[in-house]
Amino acid sequence: MLEGKRVLLIIGGGIAAFKSLELIRRLRERGCAVTPVLTASAEEFVTPLSVSALAAEKVHRDLFDLTEESEMGHIELSRSADLVVVAPCTANLMAKMAGGHADDLASTLLMATDKPVLIAPAMNVRMWQHPATQRNLSTLRQDSVLAVGPDEGEMACGEFGPGRMSEPPDIISAVAAVLSDGPLNGRHILVTSGPTIEPIDPVRYIANRSSGAQGAAIAQALASLGARVTFVTGPSSIPTPIGVKAVPVESAMQMLEAVEAALPADAAVFAAAVADWRVARKSTQKIKKDGSGKPPAIEFTENPDILSAVARKREDRPALVVGFAAETGDVVNHATAKRERKACDWIVANDVSPETGIMGGAENEVILITDDGAEKWPRMDKTQVAVRLATRIAETLA
Ligand code: C5P
Repeated sequence: MLEGKRVLLIIGGGIAAFKSLELIRRLRERGCAVTPVLTASAEEFVTPLSVSALAAEKVHRDLFDLTEESEMGHIELSRSADLVVVAPCTANLMAKMAGGHADDLASTLLMATDKPVLIAPAMNVRMWQHPATQRNLSTLRQDSVLAVGPDEGEMACGEFGPGRMSEPPDIISAVAAVLSDGPLNGRHILVTSGPTIEPIDPVRYIANRSSGAQGAAIAQALASLGARVTFVTGPSSIPTPIGVKAVPVESAMQMLEAVEAALPADAAVFAAAVADWRVARKSTQKIKKDGSGKPPAIEFTENPDILSAVARKREDRPALVVGFAAETGDVVNHATAKRERKACDWIVANDVSPETGIMGGAENEVILITDDGAEKWPRMDKTQVAVRLATRIAETLA
């Protein structure tokens, strides 16, 4: 899958830099060429000699290396690869990237590149959790930088928590997801996922039990088949799929806006559990007990049906619009009627009665409703449902 590809690998100065040697080896085993770049502090952890021996290429280190500028300028270097990987990506490198600094070769390449950038953060748990790092991460996500990890576990410094660089095989999977030559290459697919939360006042909201697991798995499967995926997600604790553009939202109205902004798309999969109702007039102050013993009267208003709005579009309607139907009985009939009512092409229906354990669980048992009728799939892992659905989408768009 990586045969003939080239990665520009920026190695930052962290203890995890030793893992980048294995990363180089594994990338090359898969036929992927690696152009290594070392930051000054990375040289404290790995030697240029070992990096260049493993990569079988010259190591780039200095922005002002004149010979190098005459051979290949930094602009050219930044664009010579299919993907830029930063591993380990230190807190300092993240901050420089988020702030747009260009004061050494690595940061200059990151500013100058026109290729996708994947970071594998690695740092002490406190540094990872620091508001500045989290702020930088969110800025980088908005800038379409992709991230893999960090993992949770015991760290070299003896502390425990998130901050360990992802293992090389996981970084390779992320690289493969971005560089995949799959059947959905060149296609843009929109996926909505997770719950929406509808505010009542500044501290209270109405939510639902959707975990976002199925939507995230679908986005991941589509990306692995080469699609460019825009993943519009309500609040979810499931890790963001790798290689997708994540657009975090909270309410249904925000989700609609993000979906509109993401179009046009070749296909759209609406896996989100969108609240049907929102509070008509959200209070700007926390609602207080008034002492009467009577609860406040909360008036609701209907949310827009995002799936139906997109499926009924005259312009920019994706060629394939897929909706979900979570039912608690008479699934096929309800879902078939829903397909008509919402004007979508397919409905992925399932029974979410509590005894099925599907809502919030790892498995799903779906019925795919298309023009050809209802097709029952066996109970399987949500990731397997996702792969099967993504494969069907790829066949249909082919
Ligand atoms: O009507 P119901 O909520 O059962 O429909 C479920 C399908 O419609 C799902 O695909 C869901 O993502 C989508 N939906 C939507 N906007 C809404 C309600 C549902 O996109 N307001």
